[in-house]
Amino acid sequence: MSADGHQGEAALRIRPLSDFDAPRLAHLEQQLFSGDNPWCAEDFRAEFSQPHTLYLGIELDQQLVAYAGVAFLGPAHQLECEIHTIGVDPAYQGRGLARAMMNQVCALADQRGAAIFLEVRTDNEPAIGLYEAFGFQRIGLRRNYYQPSGADAFTMLRPCSSDLAKGAS
Ligand SMILES: CC(C)(COP(=O)(O)OP(=O)(O)OC[C@H]1O[C@@H](n2cnc3c(N)ncnc32)[C@H](O)[C@@H]1OP(=O)(O)O)[C@@H](O)C(=O)NCCC(=O)NCCS
Repeated sequence: MSADGHQGEAALRIRPLSDFDAPRLAHLEQQLFSGDNPWCAEDFRAEFSQPHTLYLGIELDQQLVAYAGVAFLGPAHQLECEIHTIGVDPAYQGRGLARAMMNQVCALADQRGAAIFLEVRTDNEPAIGLYEAFGFQRIGLRRNYYQPSGADAFTMLRPCSSDLAKGAS
């Protein structure tokens, strides 16, 4: 770990997730999203069975501590990426693990020419901070999006890198 508390990104091994990880993922969801219908192991298995989804995770101290799931949707010439979930074990937050996974997700989306969409609770400052650090912008508000809490969500968009470059020129 570096002096600022961040995990050295080069030392992190990000691996694809599988059915084997589903019980641990369900446990993490209970910790991270208890008021908002956390996914159970069966929900994760259903996600993994879809051909268009990709789930990544980071293991430290012999257990899965961080995960992210995305879907690539639409025709090949107009692919869109949706972030379905991202979470880090509370004991491992603030060490750059979400940043490492987002680097990978954004690189994959850029390689495929895909913009990335997501929803985030309007009161979730850490997640909004993370997404803004990766160039996401708020493009909409969805009232009562999360259940059962009834919390509102921002829709956020990160244009793909070629569109970002066009905007800058
Ligand atoms: C959001 C979450 C995934 C961030 O994970 P993390 O590993 O702690 O984040 P990182 O250490 O990689 O931080 C990366 C960046 O995110 C932002 N960030 C992280 N925590 C933050 C906080 N508490 N406040 C504001 N910004 C924050 C910062 O921009 C940070 O970069 P910096 O360290 O250079 O300042 C984590 O807090 C989490 O699991 N929350 C509960 C689940 C959740 O809300 N998921 C998102 C659903 S939309």
